[in-house]
Amino acid sequence: MGLAIDHMIVPSGSAGTHAGILAGMEGNRAGIPVSGINVSRSKQEQEALVNDLAVRTAEWVGAGNCVPENAVRCFDAYVGPGYSLPTDGMVDAVRLLASTEAILLDPVYSGKSMVGCIDLTRKGFFEGCKNVLFLHTGGSPSFYAYVESFMNPLYGQKR
Ligand SMILES: Cc1ncc(COP(=O)(O)O)c(C=O)c1O
Repeated sequence: MGLAIDHMIVPSGSAGTHAGILAGMEGNRAGIPVSGINVSRSKQEQEALVNDLAVRTAEWVGAGNCVPENAVRCFDAYVGPGYSLPTDGMVDAVRLLASTEAILLDPVYSGKSMVGCIDLTRKGFFEGCKNVLFLHTGGSPSFYAYVESFMNPLYGQKR
């Protein structure tokens, strides 16, 4: 595609997605940093989990000891009250993507990750980056279990 990706954002839950992508990037020397947006744990807990799994995955696929500890980066400011519990930010992000891009995020993973992606962008975290890749991990059908949050005027932008 000829597209140079400068940074990648992924949801970080059980850590399988984050660790697998990180092992792939590092093993292939892609030069693309990967940041995870936590959906449940603290930064410290999640980074330890991702690190362990990424190192073991790289070794298992024959890429050796290619994942340095400083390549593991997680953000925990967007979890809210806990795993799968809606936040105002998530409701706003899901609404924003649905109304401007016709992309339906899921409220548990990609919704909260998009909150992080938007906030980090606003804070200048991606300064100097031209192309930031956001991984939508699917799961949109779970949206329907959260419809109430989107109808509730106490959530999101209508408050
Ligand atoms: C829709 C969706 N996205 C992302 C994830 C998170 O992936 P992981 O648990 O590998 O961190 C999950 C996990 O169940 C999921 O269902």
